[in-house]
Amino acid sequence: LDKNNFAIGVFDSGMGGLTVLKALQHELPNESFIYLGDTARLPYGTKSRVTVKKYAIQMARILVEKQIKALVIACNTASTAAISYLQQTLADIPVIGVVEPGAQAAISASKTKRIAIFATQTTIASRAYHDTIGQKTNGAHVSGHACSLLVALAEEGMIDNLIARQVIQHYLSYLSNEDCIVLGCTHFPVFNPLLKALLPKKVKVVDSAKATAAMLKKLLQEQALFTRKPSSSTQFLVTDSVDRFQRLSPIFLGNEIAISDIDLIDVAHHS
Ligand code: DGL
Repeated sequence: LDKNNFAIGVFDSGMGGLTVLKALQHELPNESFIYLGDTARLPYGTKSRVTVKKYAIQMARILVEKQIKALVIACNTASTAAISYLQQTLADIPVIGVVEPGAQAAISASKTKRIAIFATQTTIASRAYHDTIGQKTNGAHVSGHACSLLVALAEEGMIDNLIARQVIQHYLSYLSNEDCIVLGCTHFPVFNPLLKALLPKKVKVVDSAKATAAMLKKLLQEQALFTRKPSSSTQFLVTDSVDRFQRLSPIFLGNEIAISDIDLIDVAHHS
């Protein structure tokens, strides 16, 4: 068995992580992916850290059983709760989350080092972005804002209507002179067009997806883990409702997924 030809495992609480998968597929077109969405238990963002960590460990275990050569935690909330644990326990494969790349992207984009984080409640409470930015740069001023309504709006496909606009305007009213907003939640990049329209030009909006893909590519290169297979594939696994996943996925992934590429798995068998 050639480890290089194993897929890259990616998991999220549900559909949002498809925004990260999209960037991974773009950056690494020859690689194969197994995407696992915990649609039965979404959202993670309002659950306690202990629960999210437990769920994340289960998701990682399911993917590891499928033989993967690297693991991407494509969910911010799960990254904050479980990355250190998973990096320690899965020592034989690289494990990356989305917080560190997102924090790095913010530091590169911000001139004034006044940075706002828009994320879920549990991500904000973890202070993971505050801490990571603080470790990488001195004197940054980081403000965190829980923007839970945006998750619900994205899942309803309301990404550019009057309600979405009002909710975004509400969250933007929390800003005080930051020159960079980090979209610290997988669902939020779908609001990029609206954010761009509503924000002054000097405010940069960054998300983790691209930076995570670049980090993964670098890791695969360093560890000589690029695939040798001539063709790539992506398989989707969900813990509930294949139909809903298939219907909503274009919002996050940008293209349709064939229903035959999505399998339902029972998380109870893996706990
Ligand atoms: N995937 C989650 C995140 O990035 C957002 C959705 C949820 O709350 O489960 O934090």
